[in-house]
Amino acid sequence: MLETIKQTADYLANKISDVPNTAIILGTGLGELAREITEREEIPYSEIPNFPVSTVEGHSGKLIVGKLGGKRVLAMQGRFHYYEGYNMKQVTFPIRVFKALGVEYLFVSNAAGGMNSSFDVGDIMLIEDHINLFPEHPLHGKNYDQLGTRFPDMSEAYNKELRLLAMEIAKEKDIKLQHGVYIGLQGPTFETPAEYNFLRIIGGDAVGMSTVPEVIVANHAGMKVLAFSIITDLGVIGKIVEISHEEVQEAAKIAQPKIAEIMRTVIERM
Ligand code: HPA
Repeated sequence: MLETIKQTADYLANKISDVPNTAIILGTGLGELAREITEREEIPYSEIPNFPVSTVEGHSGKLIVGKLGGKRVLAMQGRFHYYEGYNMKQVTFPIRVFKALGVEYLFVSNAAGGMNSSFDVGDIMLIEDHINLFPEHPLHGKNYDQLGTRFPDMSEAYNKELRLLAMEIAKEKDIKLQHGVYIGLQGPTFETPAEYNFLRIIGGDAVGMSTVPEVIVANHAGMKVLAFSIITDLGVIGKIVEISHEEVQEAAKIAQPKIAEIMRTVIERM
């Protein structure tokens, strides 16, 4: 594992002239933020040694390196989902590589179903905390002390300073920003009404099929995380309607300029 990470990091360090200290995982529908990255270089996942290849529609797999908010960033267009068949080591492999490259900040976005009755479709939720309901833990197995401690603290998995900065910026720019707890599930089914109800009762505000594994590994690696969900559908009793991946992508697309603006400004002011 250590050798594989090093091999991939060495390859990328060679390709990228000046490695950024911030990485962004662009979730469903957020591909457009990638277009705002200037002075860019693109590296398809298929060219990166040891990188899994992304398969789901709406996730074209490549790394983009360039400038956003006046700073150099490294963006993942397309992430690896557990439901695609990757194991947790594969899902979180890019985070290990980013850390090896010297990345300190991880920004994450995703599409999620909202369970909080005050949420609307198209809202953005700042993730304050999460509940891990994936069936496999990304740190299961041998711990490499070089990568992080055996029993990582998770009391502030989503960095408070970054959250406060994001909230301040949203207020300034008059962007409605919800906040809450994200629950990560394996998918690929969306939830039944009874499951949404259960997830609300156990403390969730939003639910999705990603983010939690990457955030766990980022914390293990000592990186600072800022993450947002786009609420693309509602798992609220009385508001549950049939949904499809296309509708999720559509709703995410509409909300994406708001996340883009917040992320760009956070990076500018960091
Ligand atoms: N559930 C799980 N994942 C999702 C949802 C949802 O309702 N919406 C978008 N991604």
